[in-house]
Amino acid sequence: MRSALVLAAALAAASAWADGDAQRGRLAYEARCGGCHSVDADRIGPRHAGIVGRRAGSVPGFAYSDALRSSGLVWDAALLDRWLANPEALVPGQRMGYRLADAQERADIIAYLATLGSGRH
Ligand code: HEC
Repeated sequence: MRSALVLAAALAAASAWADGDAQRGRLAYEARCGGCHSVDADRIGPRHAGIVGRRAGSVPGFAYSDALRSSGLVWDAALLDRWLANPEALVPGQRMGYRLADAQERADIIAYLATLGSGRH
């Protein structure tokens, strides 16, 4: 039952933009982002539960850059795509030292991020 719900969410997310594949995205997320991020715990980067629709720089207790905290952004697919391609171009002075050049991989990861729920536990 639960897996059916997750699958439905993933399909809805995948159809919302580009042709991102949430299953592929989960693997790419683990490989590319997992060194610094996880879904439910803050690491070098903040946790990602509920990231789509979340205000940038808003996880309580995480030591964000002032630039990201005060950016006024609310993460949606288009902004996440720009952030992952070049965070410094989107938010000068931010502190994520990573860029993902492959547009398909970005779309897959964003489709996966959209399955992570509201983040309000
Ligand atoms: C080298 C470590 C590192 C890697 C790799 C990394 N990140 Fe980050 N990420 C960070 C840090 C640090 C921040 C906080 C930036 C700031 O405060 O300016 C961040 C912030 C973010 C944010 C904003 C979160 C928020 O709460 O506003 C998103 C979204 C994000 N990362 C997604 C990703 C994704 C997706 C990947 C993989 C493609 C990734 N990151 C890879 C370190 C990393």
